[in-house]
Amino acid sequence: MVKLKINDKEYTVPDDLPADTSLNSFIREHAHLTGTKFMCLEGGCGACIVSVQSKHPTTGKLKKYSVNSCMVPIYACHGWSVTTVEGLGGKAKGYHAIQKRLAAASGTQCGFCSPGMVMNMNSLLEANPKITMLEVENSFGGNICRCTGYRPILDAFKSLASDAPPHLTKKMADIEDMMCPKSGKICTGSSCGQSCTDNETSDDDQAPKQLMYVELKNGAKWLRPTSVKEVFEIFD
Ligand code: FES
Ligand code: FES
Repeated sequence: MVKLKINDKEYTVPDDLPADTSLNSFIREHAHLTGTKFMCLEGGCGACIVSVQSKHPTTGKLKKYSVNSCMVPIYACHGWSVTTVEGLGGKAKGYHAIQKRLAAASGTQCGFCSPGMVMNMNSLLEANPKITMLEVENSFGGNICRCTGYRPILDAFKSLASDAPPHLTKKMADIEDMMCPKSGKICTGSSCGQSCTDNETSDDDQAPKQLMYVELKNGAKWLRPTSVKEVFEIFD
């Protein structure tokens, strides 16, 4: 009997599943976790990548790595501990640092490739927390983004590398500070329907309540003025 964990929950694979059922189908159709996507179903696009922890069959050593879940038969997953994008983070439990970084760098457009990108980065960091920018650059050849936003995706992930330049990490962290913890989007300060203290309305009805990217003498910054007076002060 094949047993595995997905996001720390135990699953037993029913014996009557067809032999060619993939880990991807099991995750989506049996565990009902549809954050993991699929597209090519032949190992070429990376949309289906999940993180895995399993024991090496001969040494018994624990290994952490990513797999293209479309290519793995579910009957080969006995004893595996699988993490999908839902296990990493989300609206309800809060977003993981990798997800926040991808959003902060505008590395997600239609978002279809994002779960696979995020899980690949997760496995890379789990296997080597001191990963370098070059190693990040060279590790995404198996992830296709049809929106072709490769540069912001790689910038986002490189900012998590051990040799990331401080200005890149700081730029990303500054943007993350402006992100709504509930929606994961940049806070506009307007009534978005989320209840958070950041969205409290200003006393000044005419205040713009919007995030502004302004170029000042001492550098560019994201600012959210709360009154018209503050807007004039910024540009003074
Ligand atoms: Fe494309 Fe799995 S669906 S690699
Ligand atoms: Fe659309 Fe990558 S963001 S496929």
